[in-house]
Amino acid sequence: MTSQTNDALAEWSRRAERVMPGKQSNFRPGPDVPPVIAARAQGLRITDVNGKDFIDFTLGMGPGLLGYDNPRIREAVVAQMDRIMIAASGAMHHTAEIELAERIVEHVPCAEQVRFGISGTEADLMVMRLARGVSGKTHVLRFENHYHGWADTSFGGRLEGGSAEPVHGAELGAGIAAHAHSDVLMCPWNDADALERVLQAHGDKIALVIMEAVMCNNGCCPPRRGYLEAVRVICDRYGVLLCFDEVITGFRMGIGGAQGHYGVTPDLAVFGKAMAGGLPLSAVAGRREIMAYLKDNRVLGGGTFNSFPLATASAIAGIDMLAENDGALYRQMAVVQEKIATGLKEAAGRHGFQLMVQGPLGFLFFAFTEKEGAYTPTDLAGADMKLAMRLRGWMEESGVLVAGGSRLVMSPMMTDLEVSDALTRFDRAFAGLASEQ
Ligand SMILES: Cc1ncc(COP(=O)(O)O)c(C=O)c1O
Repeated sequence: MTSQTNDALAEWSRRAERVMPGKQSNFRPGPDVPPVIAARAQGLRITDVNGKDFIDFTLGMGPGLLGYDNPRIREAVVAQMDRIMIAASGAMHHTAEIELAERIVEHVPCAEQVRFGISGTEADLMVMRLARGVSGKTHVLRFENHYHGWADTSFGGRLEGGSAEPVHGAELGAGIAAHAHSDVLMCPWNDADALERVLQAHGDKIALVIMEAVMCNNGCCPPRRGYLEAVRVICDRYGVLLCFDEVITGFRMGIGGAQGHYGVTPDLAVFGKAMAGGLPLSAVAGRREIMAYLKDNRVLGGGTFNSFPLATASAIAGIDMLAENDGALYRQMAVVQEKIATGLKEAAGRHGFQLMVQGPLGFLFFAFTEKEGAYTPTDLAGADMKLAMRLRGWMEESGVLVAGGSRLVMSPMMTDLEVSDALTRFDRAFAGLASEQ
């Protein structure tokens, strides 16, 4: 692979290396992926410091559902700046957060009340504390390979030897508190019998079952037919609260998120990413009697920037756009997504690779495997992950930014011209990959 060594990129890379520990401020991609230093974003494109143009399928890792410079989002943010830009979340409400909560209650099935935060990680921590506070129970049940933020208790862990107590090893990096998983139990996902067994054995101490309703962080695996319904019934049987972490699926899979799409209503849900038109904002939504614990301080949780006014205004504008014409933008995104998924597979095929592509509306995953689809990461055990990482490098080389975990973040704003440009670039990337073989 040729490397980009234009003067500007080299110079910015040198400056970054001196003052920042890594080529970005999140988890770092592997060495096969060359650095990108963005200078400007417009529509669905990024221009780097060399002036190189990328079609961006990362879109902020989800928030950029409506593109980078959507005029209606911009207008709403500027108007809010004129109205009130900073509001003390500990001292007052502001009107935009109330209007936004009304919209979430209108569109999201489980939402009777809403509490806002800033990041998805914080909202996940809030929901876990809330469930413990409400139930008086100690443990949270998470699922192997799901992601609920990077905090010690919400991050990682894997199953070993049939035990529901997760182990966490070197793959999580150093520095995780020793006690972090002591009140976490774990279960394989998409297996209702496994959940039933864990709740039968430990249900009396489990406050919350939390899951991504589509496993977007590992293979974009869909729930098996009837699985979410079974989870709902099992949680009710053992008196355990159920939360869907909709940080990815929320407002992306549909205006009602995964719960709206599948028709299964959890007790609580967490939102972030695409909810606020690209600005930082998260939310915990749930049943009134659970949320009441926050109202009278039986459960505590803070955050100086919670309900950040510019983000709440941006979210209102975005959700209104998504709701218009009975969700026309979602229908538009489905058309774009179908073309991208098919085009990606065809480009792979032309260069001798077999690619599986799957994902819910708004998010795609690809893997080098002959399988048609995957319900769990075990189904992907034979997929060539190293090849996928190298493809990500060739994609960058060809002017396509692909998100970590071999994922493409979709937007309804992609024009036909951009789709065909993307398909041409996919072809170039696979040609590059084939040239290495
Ligand atoms: C399902 C899910 N939950 C929670 C988070 C954490 O959100 P944030 O990165 O905003 O803290 C993420 C982030 O990728 C996520 O995908």
